[in-house]
Amino acid sequence: MAAATALPFLAWARESTSADAAADASAKKLGAKNVLNVRDFELLAQQALPPAHFGYLATGIDDDRTLKRNEAAFGDYEIRARRFADLTQLNTGSSVFGSRWPLPIYLSAVSSMRAFHPDGEAAVGRAAASRSVQMMLSSGSSVSLERVLSERGGPVWQQLYPTDDWSVTERMVERAEKAGADAIVLSVDTTVTHEVRNSETLKRATRVDTRPCSACHKDNRHDMWLKAPLFAGLDVSRVHELTPPNMTLPWLRRLRDRVRGKLMVKGIVTGEDASLALQQGVDAIIISNHGGRNEETLRATIDCVPEVVAAVKRKVPVFVDGGVRRGTDIFKALALGATAVGIGRPHGWGLAAFGQEGVEAVLDIYSRELQAIMRQAGTPKLADITARSVLPRRA
Ligand SMILES: Cc1cc2nc3c(=O)[nH]c(=O)nc-3n(C[C@H](O)[C@H](O)[C@H](O)COP(=O)(O)O)c2cc1C
Repeated sequence: MAAATALPFLAWARESTSADAAADASAKKLGAKNVLNVRDFELLAQQALPPAHFGYLATGIDDDRTLKRNEAAFGDYEIRARRFADLTQLNTGSSVFGSRWPLPIYLSAVSSMRAFHPDGEAAVGRAAASRSVQMMLSSGSSVSLERVLSERGGPVWQQLYPTDDWSVTERMVERAEKAGADAIVLSVDTTVTHEVRNSETLKRATRVDTRPCSACHKDNRHDMWLKAPLFAGLDVSRVHELTPPNMTLPWLRRLRDRVRGKLMVKGIVTGEDASLALQQGVDAIIISNHGGRNEETLRATIDCVPEVVAAVKRKVPVFVDGGVRRGTDIFKALALGATAVGIGRPHGWGLAAFGQEGVEAVLDIYSRELQAIMRQAGTPKLADITARSVLPRRA
């Protein structure tokens, strides 16, 4: 790391009053179960992590406006509370790809999680098992797929950065399918090369982090294919990028023909691209802008749900991630037509603050909050949550 500079203190540091700080410090002491809401884990993660690692988790791109917009846009929808529903039995469960999901949430891909906790993705796998939620493992996982599968005690979705060398793509898919991943999730939103990707918040954080990096890892390179276990043993000598520059529809078709199980695309934000991907035979669409980490479009993913859902016409599940921080956000996503939501940073915060228990506590908060709003909206089961359940806020 570069030595500390005279830069103003990191833009991402949440402003807090001394009362907030005292409350959060006592939350840490009281344990994960007593943290009041998902956002509180962010400050606890910041306290637990060295600046560069927290900066990696926190960063968006350029001014982080898309990242913030993802979250703020949920505030542009109101929920229509309804009375007189029979709430004797409340059920947050559903069936996704034939499996029973107790909650309409999955843990989305977050790379290098050992930067947040020594157990990294292994702890996330255990939390996913204990709460029976689906987990998507990053291509850049710092723990091997085989180990995570054994901690999870069941299948995971393998996220794929295919690289610009097709033979490496094939080997990765082969390895994931052989190990027992039950779906391949192709990320299509990482077209910005690492030379020009402006992760400014991360860069500022790195500059004030005076620790020697070599204490934890060899270097600070972004070339995941040289260090992530999923690439171990593969000939990566011809790889230059995580995403091929020619990731066109014929390329997607070629991958479709190669993947034996389910293939999903992650990073769709328009109806047009959802239709094109469907024509290539994908099994699900994931609406995502990578948590505002790759592109500064200012378009929140929740605002993309209606047009994607309209294009998909219920042929396959539509998932959405980005800025989901409350049970009411999940409710709104479902009302707009999503099958379930993914969470990224929140489980990273939980992991950083408390390990496995923190990830579980984050999931438990979402569960409680979702149950609360389902009661208030008079929707005792997920199928009762419909387009009639929300309204755009009037200006
Ligand atoms: C630290 C970090 C690493 C991530 N790594 C990956 C990755 O390797 N592959 C991927 O498809 N998405 C990755 N994402 C994006 C998430 O899967 C997800 O789309 C996003 O975090 C959702 O937004 P949220 O953080 O607001 O919940 C990463 C996100 C974060 C915060």
